[in-house]
Amino acid sequence: MTQLRFGLIGTGFMGNAHAIALRSVGTVFDEFDAPILATVVDAELAVAQRCAAAWGFDTASDDWRSVCNDPAIDVVDICTPNHLHWEMAMEAIRAGKHVYCEKPLALTAAQAMQLRDAAAAAGVQTSMGFNYMCNPLVELARNMIQAGEIGESFNFRGWYEEDYLADPATPFSWRCLRSQGGAGALADLGTHLINMAEYLLGPVTSVLGSLTTIHEQRPDPVSGALRKVENEDIAQVMCRFDDQIPGSFDISRIATGKKCGLGFELYGSKGSIAFDQERMNELRLYSASGAADRRGYRTILSGPQHPHYAAFCPAPGHGLGINDLKVIEVRNFLASIASGAPVFSDFANGCRVQQLTAAIELSAAQGTWVDTRQSALDNNDALV
Ligand SMILES: NC(=O)c1ccc[n+]([C@@H]2O[C@H](COP(=O)([O-])OP(=O)(O)OC[C@H]3O[C@@H](n4cnc5c(N)ncnc54)[C@H](O)[C@@H]3O)[C@@H](O)[C@H]2O)c1
Repeated sequence: MTQLRFGLIGTGFMGNAHAIALRSVGTVFDEFDAPILATVVDAELAVAQRCAAAWGFDTASDDWRSVCNDPAIDVVDICTPNHLHWEMAMEAIRAGKHVYCEKPLALTAAQAMQLRDAAAAAGVQTSMGFNYMCNPLVELARNMIQAGEIGESFNFRGWYEEDYLADPATPFSWRCLRSQGGAGALADLGTHLINMAEYLLGPVTSVLGSLTTIHEQRPDPVSGALRKVENEDIAQVMCRFDDQIPGSFDISRIATGKKCGLGFELYGSKGSIAFDQERMNELRLYSASGAADRRGYRTILSGPQHPHYAAFCPAPGHGLGINDLKVIEVRNFLASIASGAPVFSDFANGCRVQQLTAAIELSAAQGTWVDTRQSALDNNDALV
């Protein structure tokens, strides 16, 4: 495979994480040619130039549209606030580029469906920034579930809780605006959890949602004047997988004390699996077999026997970090571009998550369960 030339848009939290991953992936996974860090884009040219120098990009730009249309760019990598994803991704797809986009894919299900369909029609490869599901232990959990190691699945409990907006004095940001963030905690955190839940257990077929905003106003970061928060702090969801397995999602951006509280527990007929991203190198497993007086959860530490860990480190229990998950995410995308096979999670997965998000919002507004089978999502006018 020839070296792919990346154009990265956005230089904030995720722009930096993507730059680290793009620089590292060829070293960690030497079966792939290292990507070329061609251009980095920011709204301010001086910021882009500073990042280009620090992160090792060839050039800097403040014009994302020309980067999307640059014949020398193979992959457009979008790390901007949510409301810019649709426009940037659509421009890149129309120019025939492969596209890597941070979550959520768009602001609405209608936009996400357009991106899913445009990418499929253009025959380009896509990838979403659902990094947490790239954890080797999450893949191990999925393999164990699929192999029937915990038996019949009885019940899934998932949560994604952080406290970055727990303090009402934390200033207003684009994440609090419908027109820039879309949904609130559901879009920012819930999308990771929903994607991971479907990766582990398969399709969610119905949802019942409840949304709550605790801090209805926040100070503007410049003027200090109070501004109205337009989306939810907390999303609570009951759901069913495959019409059968009951599940729940607890999502909050005001969960005091939680920093990256993404986790799940799955209870089955032969045992249970539990994961917590704040202890991301541990998977807890309970087996209901064996002597009753010896039963209890045991902890599996990540190690080189788990998928992709060995590429980083030969020693078990030494652990991976959040940026390593991004390296695995980029590795999976490079493999997808090389083979032409879709990656989990591509824009089709990103679209499905967006549709599920919309279904949860609709359910909360109506106070009723909403059908979330794919055909129902694609044909429900209330969701677009
Ligand atoms: N995968 C994850 O774990 C994760 C974590 C955090 C954020 N995110 C997602 O990443 C995206 C960015 O979030 P962030 O926290 O990095 O935000 P941020 O505010 O830190 O960075 C956004 C960047 O976009 C740039 N930008 C804004 N408008 C632009 C324009 N018109 N042209 C070029 N650049 C422009 C800003 O200058 C800034 O550099 C969001 O969609 C967010 O949901 C994902």
